[in-house]
Amino acid sequence: PLVSMTEMLNKAKAEGYAVGQFNLNNLEFTQAILQAAEEEKSPVICGVSEGAARYMGGFKTVVGMVKNLMQEYNVTVPVAIHLDHGSSFEKCVEAIHAGFTSVMIDGSHHPLEENIALTKRVVDVAHALGVSVEAELGRIGGQEDDLVVDEAEAAYAIPSECKELVEATGVDCFAPALGSVHGPYKGEPNLGFDRMKEINELVGIPLVLHGGTGIPTKDIQKAISLGHAKINVNTESQISSAKAVRQVLEEKPELYDPRKYLGPAREAIKDTVKGKMREFGSSNKA
Ligand code: G3H
Ligand code: ZN
Repeated sequence: PLVSMTEMLNKAKAEGYAVGQFNLNNLEFTQAILQAAEEEKSPVICGVSEGAARYMGGFKTVVGMVKNLMQEYNVTVPVAIHLDHGSSFEKCVEAIHAGFTSVMIDGSHHPLEENIALTKRVVDVAHALGVSVEAELGRIGGQEDDLVVDEAEAAYAIPSECKELVEATGVDCFAPALGSVHGPYKGEPNLGFDRMKEINELVGIPLVLHGGTGIPTKDIQKAISLGHAKINVNTESQISSAKAVRQVLEEKPELYDPRKYLGPAREAIKDTVKGKMREFGSSNKA
């Protein structure tokens, strides 16, 4: 069923695993992610950035695609459709209106008080409609679609501010920037585990790890043990899909039917997503 993130994340946090947010980029990504979730018997969060939604034909198109595929595949596991890095109150409302079951309002570039006020407005609307909300503090480095944060701008979240934001807004889950990066890492990720522990103890609600691509398994496990119940992955599926397309077209340069190269891409995405579900411990938890 299509659900908000609240229940799946509270369960994950209580039981010590994380639910993956896998970003949708097109039809094949959506198919692969839903099939992987059903085959792994795992809850799943379909992440949709504003840029990706634009590419796919708008929020309503995305919701229709997910709903229809769920029906077609007889999906029984819990699925959330989540706006990733929502840039404004208006965009969040538009996504909710289109049928999204969850939204992130990313007010991390605003001063704390403004971030709190904006997040609270979104929570008031979302919760009235049974939609879950994710907020962010600090600044996650790297690039994802329209969102670009260079190294100098990237900043670790401050624990006392995290507590203030979570308490003042009533968000369902919370993403503190702690050194993770969107896109490929330059060198080893350097996650702030001391701060992570402190923030987890202060806020209590499920934490969200953005930039899940390229983080070593031992760090993933540590982040889960320190309160992370949601981990976002996009780049890794994109890399495996591009690799599959490249391989097929290099082997058969005369090929032109998109199904012949996007089919293998879909299989590659599915394998990547299944691997992540096992790594995060969400397999057989639906
Ligand atoms: O919001 C989406 C994720 O944070 C993407 O992270 O680029 O490391 O896969 P990634
Ligand atoms: Zn992110």
